[in-house]
Amino acid sequence: MAVKDAVLQALENARGARISGGALAASLGVSRAAVWKAIDALRAEGLSIDAVPGEGYRLASDDDSLTAAGISALLTTRAFGRELLVVPSLSSTNTVLKQDYLDKPHGFALLAEAQTGGRGRLGRSFASPAGTGLYISLLLHPSFALSQLQFVTIAAAVAVCEAIEQTAGFSPQIKWVNDVLRDGKKLCGILTEAIIEGETGAVGAAVVGIGINLRGNPEWPDEVRKVAGALSDFGTPPRRAALAAALLKTFEDAYALLEQGRADMLLEAYRSRLCCIGRPVTVTGPTGSYQAQCTGLDKSGHLLVQTGDGQTRTLSSGEISIRF
Ligand code: BTN
Repeated sequence: MAVKDAVLQALENARGARISGGALAASLGVSRAAVWKAIDALRAEGLSIDAVPGEGYRLASDDDSLTAAGISALLTTRAFGRELLVVPSLSSTNTVLKQDYLDKPHGFALLAEAQTGGRGRLGRSFASPAGTGLYISLLLHPSFALSQLQFVTIAAAVAVCEAIEQTAGFSPQIKWVNDVLRDGKKLCGILTEAIIEGETGAVGAAVVGIGINLRGNPEWPDEVRKVAGALSDFGTPPRRAALAAALLKTFEDAYALLEQGRADMLLEAYRSRLCCIGRPVTVTGPTGSYQAQCTGLDKSGHLLVQTGDGQTRTLSSGEISIRF
């Protein structure tokens, strides 16, 4: 491990407390000058590290920097996020990942402080100003067929809920198919895109983009404010680096269930968080909208609804809205 990463890991583990330069140098087996150089490099990356002569260095407890080194220091995954890149601003992490990074290994993650053209499902935009959210796209090289791809989004939705539970201390719910909510307010959106090989129809790669609102966004127009919420509405939001590291781990674990052929376990975790079962919903599809009662989920993750005339319909795409 590079000295810089080892110093950051030590500061992370002692977050809020001071460690002397001498103690750092001794525990890492490097010179004090090497520690000083590493601290300088970490500060240049945006980490808030203060120093008191004679007492040592400390990573401020409210430091919310988002850096590759900061996330890596907290990472407990095998593959997800083991290679990652954090950039200050770009159009959309999904778009840039697809343009420039498709040759990266399975689990590569691209994060941005801000997106100027954040994209949502159904051609919508996703407001992504700096400092208020976590915007991350993950590259996967799936070993399963296109027909199973909806499970990747399902895994991502479960993983987001688990990461929020671990770091923000409350349990959100899922609105089919991929919105994470609390009290009817959308906290997170997920956009999964696949690159299909023309010849065989196999999934060459999947890009899973996740946007989580940590703080309310002053730029939200009124109509967005009605439906959108943030983790800060329900308590102290976690640090972005901590949320990113937790999410990479929960997503890796959820995805492992798919690879092990245990989609049933994943579906159970997903179903238990769905907020629409047993409720009246409005279904909006390409041919218009209709009212129905949501009755369950089938084993492919498709939503089951019953219309007024007693017919059951199976939804594999489209959108529902729920009256809370
Ligand atoms: C939705 O709510 O319809 C999905 C929103 C997905 C937003 C994330 S933010 C990171 C990634 N980059 C994008 O442009 N979109 C996704």
